Amino acid sequence: MAELSEELKKFIAHVAGLVDGYIYARVHGEPQALYEAALHLIRAGGKRLRPVVVIAVAEALGESAEKALPFAAAVELVHNFTLIHDDIMDRDEMRRGVPTVHKLWGEPMAITAGDLLFSKAFEVLSDAVDKGVPPARVVKAARQLARASSIVAEGQALDMMFEEEEDIGVEDYLKMIYKKTGALFEASAVLGGLASTEDEGLLGSLATYGRSIGIAFQIRDDVLSIIGEEEQLGKPVYNDIREGKKTLPIIYALEKLEEEERERLRSILGRKDASMDELREAAELVKKSGAVEYAEKLAEEYMKRALAALTVLPENRYRKMLEELAIFAVKRTK
Ligand code: IPE
Ligand code: IPE
Ligand code: MG
Ligand code: MG
Repeated sequence: MAELSEELKKFIAHVAGLVDGYIYARVHGEPQALYEAALHLIRAGGKRLRPVVVIAVAEALGESAEKALPFAAAVELVHNFTLIHDDIMDRDEMRRGVPTVHKLWGEPMAITAGDLLFSKAFEVLSDAVDKGVPPARVVKAARQLARASSIVAEGQALDMMFEEEEDIGVEDYLKMIYKKTGALFEASAVLGGLASTEDEGLLGSLATYGRSIGIAFQIRDDVLSIIGEEEQLGKPVYNDIREGKKTLPIIYALEKLEEEERERLRSILGRKDASMDELREAAELVKKSGAVEYAEKLAEEYMKRALAALTVLPENRYRKMLEELAIFAVKRTK
């Protein structure tokens, strides 16, 4: 992640070490195939941004990383659960530079591995009591994470249903990505807050921060699916076109292209057997429409909302890193 400051890079590596260690200590058992499948993506890497949000928020408020660690591990577990199921839904064969879980273990085991991580998340979250977080706050954290998980399910359902719908607009899209991606970032920021405080006003601003970076992050993800480099991303590009996803760049292009090009784009969208040349052609049409610039602008608006929400935190190095993370959400190339 060349575009990040040394300080943030170090912090991310530090959090990744803590969270991975915690997850490996808490997620093991038999049958071996189930646990191997469940840990496969975690071992493969990933940016660990959600736990970074949890711990940076907690530390910005003067709490120790150790106290927030069960919350951080829990959000990463939920995230990995959604990734395993998402790759089945999206028919994707690569993630984090390795074959997806269902590709290696088959769909039935992958579904079960996802379920395991989802359950483990709540088991691990409850460890916060042993770390000294007051039980009432741990209950609030569990409620937040459960609520976010339900919202992710709603978002994933909408994401799939939109594939079949013709007239999806920007508002529909924004609601859908808040649900599938924004809600877990929102919960991450709130859980970081709950490691330290019950102040509703503060938690509300943290929710705005998390929700806004999550939306910005997903818009960037959808742009990268059009302009990104497969090698950097560790996951395929153009898959949104193949699956007929109503992403922001695609919605915009369908609206702005002239009839002939729009029909050409439409004829490729959602065609599971489209050739690489056709997918590339569709991506070129999307770019030509100005969709990338449009999406980048909208992502920046959400980044600004995120930055504004952070002003409730004390000014310190952790707040600085959260600011940098908001900027990274819209500039990232992986
Ligand atoms: C991928 O999330 C799924 C989306 C919400 C776009 P990340 O890009 O955070 O995935 P990892 O954890 O770094 O692999
Ligand atoms: C992101 O889904 C949201 C979840 C995984 C819940 P996407 O399908 O947009 O993300 P990628 O591109 O597969 O990572
Ligand atoms: Mg996907
Ligand atoms: Mg998906």
